[in-house]
Amino acid sequence: MKTVKLGIAGLGHVGCGLIELVERQAELRLPGKLEIVGVSARSKSRNRPVDISGYRWFDDAATLAEDPEVDVFVELVGGSDGPAKFAVEEAIKAGKHVVTANKALIAMHGQALEKLAQEKDVDLMFEAAVAGGVPVVRVLRDSLTGVTINRVSGILNGTCNYLTTEMLDTGRSYDEVLEEAQKLGYAEADPTLDVSGMDAAHKAAILASIAFTADLDFSKVSVKGVDTVELIDLVLADRLGLRIKLIAEGLLTDAGVVCRVAPLAMPVEHPLARVNGALNTVRVEGDPVGAVTLTGPGAGAGPTASAVMGDISKLFTPTARSPFGRAKHHESRQFVDAEPAERSAFFFRVKLADRPGALASLTEALAAHDVSVNKLLQESADDSDVSPVAIVTHVCSRGDIDAASARVSALEASVGAPQVIPIDAGN
Ligand SMILES: NC(=O)c1ccc[n+]([C@@H]2O[C@H](COP(=O)([O-])OP(=O)(O)OC[C@H]3O[C@@H](n4cnc5c(N)ncnc54)[C@H](OP(=O)(O)O)[C@@H]3O)[C@@H](O)[C@H]2O)c1
Repeated sequence: MKTVKLGIAGLGHVGCGLIELVERQAELRLPGKLEIVGVSARSKSRNRPVDISGYRWFDDAATLAEDPEVDVFVELVGGSDGPAKFAVEEAIKAGKHVVTANKALIAMHGQALEKLAQEKDVDLMFEAAVAGGVPVVRVLRDSLTGVTINRVSGILNGTCNYLTTEMLDTGRSYDEVLEEAQKLGYAEADPTLDVSGMDAAHKAAILASIAFTADLDFSKVSVKGVDTVELIDLVLADRLGLRIKLIAEGLLTDAGVVCRVAPLAMPVEHPLARVNGALNTVRVEGDPVGAVTLTGPGAGAGPTASAVMGDISKLFTPTARSPFGRAKHHESRQFVDAEPAERSAFFFRVKLADRPGALASLTEALAAHDVSVNKLLQESADDSDVSPVAIVTHVCSRGDIDAASARVSALEASVGAPQVIPIDAGN
């Protein structure tokens, strides 16, 4: 039976989860035997849920990466640069296969690392970097090579999905739900990477690059988070038959690949609208398959470690296949900026001072930019005499709705900036 020898750098949630899995490998369906030949983290003495005293300790992840005993270097440190990147580069240069869960590293440097890995004839695998325990990278890269993909979209940040689900279910504000999520460990102490949409953007860029054989250019990814979504948006959207979710997507357009993360409204019967709580989901649309949807736990020690293990198990028979599934004869597409002329219906919410003529001034401002109203819902004024108004527009261009929004914002009756969220009809 073949033995694969692992060097594991990073002994946090995922690293310890992986060690637990390796220790009970007899229960798993692995093609051979795994042996941990060394581990590395910041602090040797830190208390951990697994006993690491039986493994060789390395103060420096890069030294472990190059160790002659190591066949596969597993990077579970995190961060787009610094020790994670350096150790991965050193591992590849030393001819080691690499498995990582590090979306930031792959989103920012994936293409350069791919080049290095191909030069050195080694595998670089990152199933756990996107949607944790949901096996989507290899499904896209390998299983769906027979599909011409036109869109890949999904809910790729469990924290954001938990926040919007919980706000709507409990009627609590963004700040209240976030604070509770931090106490329960569902959100990081510093949630910025999640709520700003950046974490989902890293994952979306990786998926788009694989789905469309595109050179991954993270500078072209447009990113908006859930931190601007208010409870009133979710409540009014719900009354209009819509759910608002943070959606990450890659689209194939005539100009190239558009990749973005932003809140999106969708009818309650849309497949993504029904994914609640901390779950992740990825929906791949293409010809001739139609749509394929994968849903499951997008984070957590166990699910993420299981995805790392899935990659490791492939390395009993290395292939040195392009990590992004590209071959020399494939034509590479480019990431491009989102189309300003793109058309859709929009969920538009504004807060108006409760005074005569306010609503008329709103509809006039919209009409001045060719934005017409499909549905309108006005809430009664609160104690401060402010009345929220939600509108579902007819289909119009992004440019027109943005111009209308600026005009509405400047109205005397308008309080605060309007909320503008595209609606995905799910066709
Ligand atoms: N957690 C999840 O659910 C999840 C899901 C998908 C992907 N991921 C990805 O998996 C990776 C690891 O995540 P995690 O949640 O396990 O992180 P974590 O719990 O914060 O653990 C990070 C580990 O890296 C070590 N480390 C930090 N800086 C280091 C340095 N300069 N040199 C060597 N080791 C260093 C830490 O050492 P000490 O323990 O000594 O402090 C710790 O063991 C990240 O790329 C993350 O994005 C995580």
